[in-house]
Amino acid sequence: MTKALRKAVFPVAGLGTRFLPATKATAKEMLPVVDKPLIQYAVEEARAAGIEQFCMVTGRGKTALVEHFDVAYELEATLRERDKQDAMQLLAGTQVEPGSMVAVRQQVPLGLGHAIWCARAFIGADPFAILLPDDLVLADRPCLSQLAEVHAETGGNVIAVTEVERAHTSRYGIVDPGADDGRMVEVKGLVEKPAPEKAPSTLSIIGRYILTAEVLPHLARMERGAGNEVQLTDAMARLIGSQPFHALRYEGRRFDCGDKAGFLEAQIAFALKRPDLAPAVRDFLRRYV
Ligand code: UTP
Repeated sequence: MTKALRKAVFPVAGLGTRFLPATKATAKEMLPVVDKPLIQYAVEEARAAGIEQFCMVTGRGKTALVEHFDVAYELEATLRERDKQDAMQLLAGTQVEPGSMVAVRQQVPLGLGHAIWCARAFIGADPFAILLPDDLVLADRPCLSQLAEVHAETGGNVIAVTEVERAHTSRYGIVDPGADDGRMVEVKGLVEKPAPEKAPSTLSIIGRYILTAEVLPHLARMERGAGNEVQLTDAMARLIGSQPFHALRYEGRRFDCGDKAGFLEAQIAFALKRPDLAPAVRDFLRRYV
């Protein structure tokens, strides 16, 4: 029987070099889209999918990420004193069950695979989700909930994928597809950042995964892959054949918020979904385009 999915890992120890100078002293995952930091979108998405235990893999200069989910005693006391109910309400999404969130350190950013390996004690022998907060997904049904539904059916490993232009395959992990029903694809192989002419497809992995703990011994080998980093994609590829492995063409739109243009587009897309902001945003956009 498939074990219930209750754990999620949030790797947030990257350097965010594509977003310098903003990320010099601030974590990329604390950058807000409209009025909420990226990390909060990810934690809320996980919670909506039934996740009860959260693990952040952090690095130096990233303490704000953990503090965002702590009690802000002075702030909350002042808001209460001034009877600012609306402002108090805005903090609701930052509250987590006592003891449900832990942080581990990745002292040196050796790659996403290494970051996940740093969470091995938290993961134990359980299936777990991974959410990369800089991949923000706008969807009617949260992306991780879509994956969790597939996972409950198939067990094993499930990753979210989307089509990209062939010219861009060298930016992503790419799936070598097997049986494909148009929504779900059997994963026959995985390649990290292949050149366009070598890519087995144009189906790229986005930052949402549900994996089994069996990926950990493969990560422990610390083999370096593309970019000389310990790649999660390479460790996942070693699971193929011994466990079910599926890719889901999720419904929704992904924004790469680690990239400046992607981040700006996310601001617009998310603001246009907000009834309190959409009319003003639509109005000023007309003046620019
Ligand atoms: P990215 O590829 O976006 O790398 O990592 P980055 O360092 O954050 O940003 P750039 O490319 O330098 O601009 C994808 C995810 O994996 C995490 C990042 O925090 C991000 O959520 N990561 C990456 C780690 O936690 N540790 C690493 O060693 C590398």
